[in-house]
Amino acid sequence: MALRKILVWPDKRLEEKARPVVRVDDRIRKLLDDMAETMYAGEGVGLAATQIGEPARVAVIDVSGADEKVPLIRAINPEIVESEGRVTHEEGCLSLPEVREEIARFEKIKVRYKDPEGNTVETAAHGLLARVFQHEIDHLDGKLLFDRLSALKRGLIKRKLKKAKLNTREDREDHELRAAE
Ligand code: NI
Repeated sequence: MALRKILVWPDKRLEEKARPVVRVDDRIRKLLDDMAETMYAGEGVGLAATQIGEPARVAVIDVSGADEKVPLIRAINPEIVESEGRVTHEEGCLSLPEVREEIARFEKIKVRYKDPEGNTVETAAHGLLARVFQHEIDHLDGKLLFDRLSALKRGLIKRKLKKAKLNTREDREDHELRAAE
């Protein structure tokens, strides 16, 4: 297993639509293992391949911290086949550090995906699991959580993120300057 670098917005690769996996092979299984390790290192509950610059429709999800009955899920070509209700809850994203926003999602879903052995799995999800599935499938479609907000809100968040990035760079340059003195 190998730790991979998580892309942070405004990296353009986060806006790419991932391609469906045609064959479940060792390359895909290795990718899923890397993603699980990277998700745990980042203390996230989900990670989509687009977030590490691999445009394949695969995601890993682990909500066992909230519901220990649900083990690590390695989902290939996940899709929502049924949905019901609407619920708003706070969300974050490893690709959007510091951002926490109330996002509306389906309350209950039925998802279909292939597991690493190539078997088709269909499962009903609600609560955090349903939310994370929807968040990761959005990533695979090149969408980030702020794409679920109004244009006004989205603009505010993007400006805040750009400013934070600029500050970090200035801090670093300041520090280097001082170190050189
Ligand atoms: Ni995310």
